[in-house]
Amino acid sequence: MEIEQSYILNKLSGKIFEVITASADVLQVETYVIGGYVRDMILHRPSKDIDVVCVGSGIELAQEVAKRLGKGAQTAFFKNYGTAQVKYQGTEIEFVGARKESYTHDSRNPIVENGTLQDDLNRRDFTINAMAICLNRERYGELIDPFDGLSDLDEYRIKTPLSPDITFSDDPLRMMRAVRFAGQLGFFIEAETFEAIERNRERILIVSKERIVDELNKIILSPRPSVGFELLEQTGLLNLIFPELVALKGIETKEGIGHKDNFSHTLTVLDNLARTTGNLWLRWAALFHDIGKPRVKRFDNKLGWTFHGHEFKGMKMLKGIFQQMKLPANDKLRYVEKLVSLHMRPIVLADEEVTDSAIRRLLFEAGDDIDDLMSLCEADITSKNPEKVKRFLHNFQLVRSKLKEIEEKDRVRNFQPPIDGLQIMEMFHLPAGKLVGELKSAIKDAILDGEIPNEYDAAYAYLMKLAEEKRISADTSLQTDLQ
Ligand code: CTP
Repeated sequence: MEIEQSYILNKLSGKIFEVITASADVLQVETYVIGGYVRDMILHRPSKDIDVVCVGSGIELAQEVAKRLGKGAQTAFFKNYGTAQVKYQGTEIEFVGARKESYTHDSRNPIVENGTLQDDLNRRDFTINAMAICLNRERYGELIDPFDGLSDLDEYRIKTPLSPDITFSDDPLRMMRAVRFAGQLGFFIEAETFEAIERNRERILIVSKERIVDELNKIILSPRPSVGFELLEQTGLLNLIFPELVALKGIETKEGIGHKDNFSHTLTVLDNLARTTGNLWLRWAALFHDIGKPRVKRFDNKLGWTFHGHEFKGMKMLKGIFQQMKLPANDKLRYVEKLVSLHMRPIVLADEEVTDSAIRRLLFEAGDDIDDLMSLCEADITSKNPEKVKRFLHNFQLVRSKLKEIEEKDRVRNFQPPIDGLQIMEMFHLPAGKLVGELKSAIKDAILDGEIPNEYDAAYAYLMKLAEEKRISADTSLQTDLQ
């Protein structure tokens, strides 16, 4: 592959590069733009951060650059690591001196040995990330490509510069990076590199969960996430970092009846969803939607394979999985739990006659996440039978329009029952407890079932009637045991 010099020069124009060149020349240090920025530039991909390596002190170079950029530049120095960051008009530039040892962004070891540009490129992850372009005036735009990364870019190949066993032992996360780049860029992992991942896979266990999740997020956000997950599975990495997903794999047959492979189904759902949304957590919900299936799988002589209640089993598994993987156990967990537990509801609705009260309940439970839930359910239709797909999509359309109609009429999406627990306690002098909860739910159910409108007066009248039936009064309630 040839790359036009004029293309490089054009890409490296602008104030930031001019200032880096002037600073490098004044300090007389060899300076290069390197790594992902060079790769993305050649691939015509937009790139955000600029990584600069100099054969000398990265910190001194950054100081000079910041001084010349003037007021608009924000600078941060990480002296222990020998790196510095300059932010200027929305661009982030990282400066570091060339190193002899492994180059990892978040390596916790303070830097030790300085090296040449070649030393630095040797310890990078892939040939396509081990290219540099000189920024000094005399050699401006000169491409340094010792491992022929250009050909690998041309042939869509992910390959380590050194023996892969060395590159992966320097930083085992690179095994996941190989997979991630393959998925993100549509590349393949070269055989020797692939085999080394299989061989070294257990080493992923020494990498922090946070870094692993970071890579998983990037795989999930790639255009066809199934590519990355298939590779993670084939290399054996997935079983080590996310065994519950691997448990979905396989087809069991009994009496000539098989069920679908829930692993590939899950990945198809994720790919479907990736076409319509960039919402990371909705994509995670797709990965998790059938996670409970292996634990509830049964063979029924009449029905064949069943997975009854897999949505609730799956929802219950999530907290533990989130903790184990160090995913955020906050509103993200609750969001995914909600989508997983509700994902069968619209399908059931679409199959049966859609009653107003069923729609109201769904709206009430899904709240503002109802549209995400519907997107997940539509992505969940992976049947190969076009007639079936058409029927489902049509029914979902009906459910969607019914949802809209009921929401406009009854406003139950974020509804709070018009009388709350505190008011009930005061009205009847009741202590907090089961009875109050029951009265509160009775009002909510009456509204959702359409027995009474979603209004205070109606709820009050309903509550009084209920109290009379249960013989609760303001005077005697505390002593009356009605259970
Ligand atoms: N690098 C490496 N090993 C790692 C991480 C990074 O060798 N574990 C090197 C690569 O040369 C990489 C560069 O550091 O190109 C910058 O790393 P990073 O910003 O993490 O990745 P990019 O390649 O820039 O890609 P992206 O921004 O998509 O993550």
